[in-house]
Amino acid sequence: MAKIVVIGSSNTDMVIKSRTIPRPGETVIGGKFVCNAGGKGANQAVAAARLGGNVAMIARVGADVFGEQARNGLAAEGIDVSCVKADPDAATGIALILVDENAENSISVASGANENLSPADVDEAEEKFGLISGADILVVQLETPMATLLHTAELAEKFNIPLILDPAPAPKEGLPDELLARLTLLKPNETEASYITGIEVTDRSSAARAVENLHQRGVKQVIITLGKEGVLVSDGTGEPVHVPAIQVEAVDSTAAGDCFSGALACALAEGKTLVEAARFASRAAGLSVTKLGAQQSMPTRNEVEG
Ligand code: RIB
Repeated sequence: MAKIVVIGSSNTDMVIKSRTIPRPGETVIGGKFVCNAGGKGANQAVAAARLGGNVAMIARVGADVFGEQARNGLAAEGIDVSCVKADPDAATGIALILVDENAENSISVASGANENLSPADVDEAEEKFGLISGADILVVQLETPMATLLHTAELAEKFNIPLILDPAPAPKEGLPDELLARLTLLKPNETEASYITGIEVTDRSSAARAVENLHQRGVKQVIITLGKEGVLVSDGTGEPVHVPAIQVEAVDSTAAGDCFSGALACALAEGKTLVEAARFASRAAGLSVTKLGAQQSMPTRNEVEG
């Protein structure tokens, strides 16, 4: 089975869902609490694995109870955790997440061990396990150091392995052209696409202009997610294709983008076309929004295809 390797973050998420998200200085009483595994990278790995993908992860957690739980949780999903290291010098990443009655969230992350994921960690994963040269698809995000991402992109180019970047959290300073030129696929949401291109993306027509900008800068395939408006898919050979979103009763939008990226990687690894993979990912992401939490909200294959 084609191999997906996710290089990125792992966090423990402390989530409160209540009616509103408090303003500075305000206390809101009457919420529901869950603690579950998160982190954009780990969420993507779990989304892909739960949908049937063959997944390995390169990451750092702390040498603490949260790190042990995170690593065990990934292993329980069938993910190869040989390169998920326990860092003796940092705590596991922690995200404090507030979700309101409209399923919108607000997230604060203490990155901890994620900040120590280094180019040397990626080299070690390659030298010991061939995890880069032996991958069929590499998936990265922006919650770990840029130097590690750039190094991964160089290796992806060297070994000719497709590289998917989910540019979250949104890069306010944009992204370097040397990185964009090495990407096979970029999957921003509206805000991320706006920061990266300088074009304010608010609808399908502005998204189409952003797609064009990204192709000009060397990105081969682009998928811009537009929330309830669905996604715009482009392989650079013609007009972008619009894939509508499924209608759901939203509980929590946290990790919907991660679910999309993980499901997309899984579908592409299976040989689906870009548009077919986007449809599959769109359905998976829609279903993830119907449950509270990050990894615990990722759907199964039966749920997506049922
Ligand atoms: O994308 C959602 C994720 O962002 C959460 O799981 C949290 O850990 C933060 O990394």
